[in-house]
Amino acid sequence: MLIVVKKNYDEMTKEAARVISEIVREKPSCTLGLATGSTPLGVYKELIRMYKEEGLDFSKVTTFNLDEYIGLAPSHQQSYHYFMHDNLFKHINLDERFIHIPSSMVDVSDINRIHKYCDWYEEQTRKAGGMDLQLLGIGVNGHIGFNEPGSSLGARTRIKTLTQKTREDNARFFNNDIDQVPKYAITMGVGTILESRIVLLLASGKQKAEAIKMTAEGPITAMVPASIVQMHRKAILIVDEEAGSLLDMQYEQFVTDLE
Ligand code: PGA
Repeated sequence: MLIVVKKNYDEMTKEAARVISEIVREKPSCTLGLATGSTPLGVYKELIRMYKEEGLDFSKVTTFNLDEYIGLAPSHQQSYHYFMHDNLFKHINLDERFIHIPSSMVDVSDINRIHKYCDWYEEQTRKAGGMDLQLLGIGVNGHIGFNEPGSSLGARTRIKTLTQKTREDNARFFNNDIDQVPKYAITMGVGTILESRIVLLLASGKQKAEAIKMTAEGPITAMVPASIVQMHRKAILIVDEEAGSLLDMQYEQFVTDLE
């Protein structure tokens, strides 16, 4: 596991974008796993800048998003479909046909159909040659995607019932009305995420320091789903100084070398 501590959010996201751009340049038809949330926003901004100013070409890139709420139309401002289009896709030259986000419109009363849909989603990642890189944020409780503490570390893409805590945390995006927060989501599983050739996990700010400490230096446990990155052959954690402030080991601020 490679841990890179950067001075602040801006430097963290620039370094992450640099890692991603290297993959896109070396393998123009690569497959990227993408994430939503406030953490990757700066990464997407920098990738858009690279596209506009440096001609970084996304035309052959395939993307798969980690997760999506169930029950929000793709046009809903809080849907991850909307987020991805608004913050990245509409600004770069990705081919619409190569973009994949779990459907938000599955029927929760038909669980067999949802299982089939989730299997199909995973099948698409395999058909695309598997993920070259999976970008991840982390929750203050160590969650990745909607894999909350206690999620099986071998889990695949599936429907999850959101915890009360997650719904309360996310109510701020829904007019502070928890009743508007979806109850279910589809998320890639921890097992799915681990199959990516590179796992790139980002965190910034003091509120993530404990989660990063447990992820990097604590025991591997389902109670901290992100801690499984310790088992990955090529996990890169890029954090800012605040998120890295509880780490015991001294990690250099160095430029990552993927090999
Ligand atoms: P954040 O969310 O980037 O908005 O902090 C991360 C997550 O919950 O996975």
